[in-house]
Amino acid sequence: MTTRILTGITTTGTPHLGNYAGAIRPAIEASRQSNVDSFYFLADYHALIKCDDPLRIQRSRLEIAATWLAGGLDVERATFYRQSDIPEIPELTWLLTCVAGKGLLNRAHAYKASVDKNVDAGEDPDAGVTMGLFSYPVLMAADILMFNAHKVPVGRDQIQHVEMARDIGQRFNHLFGKGSDLFVLPEAVIEESVATLPGLDGRKMSKSYDNTIPLFSSPKQLKDAIARIVTDSRLPGEPKDPGASHLFTLYSAFATPAQTQAFRAHLLGGLGWGEAKQQLFALLDSELGGARDRYHQFMERPADLEDILQAGAAKARKVATPFLEQLREAVGLRSFRTQVGSTGEARKKAGKASRFVSFREQDGTFRFRLLSAEGEQLLLSRPFADGKSAGAVTKALQEAEVDLRANGAGFELWLDDTCVADSPAFTDDASRDAAMSAVREALRPQA
Ligand code: TRP
Repeated sequence: MTTRILTGITTTGTPHLGNYAGAIRPAIEASRQSNVDSFYFLADYHALIKCDDPLRIQRSRLEIAATWLAGGLDVERATFYRQSDIPEIPELTWLLTCVAGKGLLNRAHAYKASVDKNVDAGEDPDAGVTMGLFSYPVLMAADILMFNAHKVPVGRDQIQHVEMARDIGQRFNHLFGKGSDLFVLPEAVIEESVATLPGLDGRKMSKSYDNTIPLFSSPKQLKDAIARIVTDSRLPGEPKDPGASHLFTLYSAFATPAQTQAFRAHLLGGLGWGEAKQQLFALLDSELGGARDRYHQFMERPADLEDILQAGAAKARKVATPFLEQLREAVGLRSFRTQVGSTGEARKKAGKASRFVSFREQDGTFRFRLLSAEGEQLLLSRPFADGKSAGAVTKALQEAEVDLRANGAGFELWLDDTCVADSPAFTDDASRDAAMSAVREALRPQA
């Protein structure tokens, strides 16, 4: 079975070395595994929650897209897109908003932190809190549930959000799933093996600590940043402790085991810090040089990036559009056209009408069921290549003669010399014939 991996990157900043080693590089590696289907996207709607500077949003989207592509993401294999190019995501966000408990969202860390800060400052608890911030986890749940992701690689601060996506998805399944699950319930994955990269001062590399090493800047800027790495005061010739040196940690994040081994031996042997920094620079420059060139090429051709992302959006929407159709159907936002016997006495008598429900199979084909007014399955269609062909058949069935043909323990529904749907098997002819009448009645209710 293939595992669907999905993750989003909020587009408010410029990726640094820590983002690359901690998130981007492992995600690109994961996308190359044969049993993995990966969905990676720019969470630019999420960016609007934190940032009201349009230039920064635009620049960050471009830089992050270029970074992932320069890092070797294969967009033929993976699905790479911008959240804001998928209109189904905000649509699903609303469906989920209608089942998400306000109490659940009150407990979200990011919202709670804002409230605590306001309370401490003697302000109104919700001062400066937008509905975007409050509903952030619902939008994120829509990102994840839209594509039925199994695994969601995230930082620790995001685990709670993935759990909320599970909660909301579960509730939706319970309310509208009719016994079969609409959403896969996702799991957060924290890559334990990918250590968080330390920054210049040894704390976690993070923009908020102002201790980052730039990723695709000029060699000179890289060298300057490395020069600012904090070390202890041991002199050249004195043995250094690799285990206590974040310079060594940075080196080993990009080196082969053999290189790491040699570097460790040199430090123990008294390599001076100046020389050690020179070696770190040489390593990073050679490891990242190729990607840096590709990055700058992409940054100079934004129209090409646009094309790549548009193609990614089209690929993502191949999944999202029919799935959202199914979800709308599940909550009752249904076409009047596919409603069988929706007018006249039959409807009044039954209270509810029988109806067609279409859905998408795991293999991408489409089927529909004919359900009785009571929700019992009368027929299951043969598979169709796409939702449109399935829809055309359900429409035609409401106009054509009802052509039912008994076949062994069950029966078939035919349209224009093609068998389009099958009944379940029955234990005897009498129950089969009764079911045939029920289907006739469902398709041609007597007024
Ligand atoms: N909120 C995430 C972050 O700031 C980004 C994100 C948005 C995301 N939607 C997602 C991550 C869906 C994983 C899945 O890091």
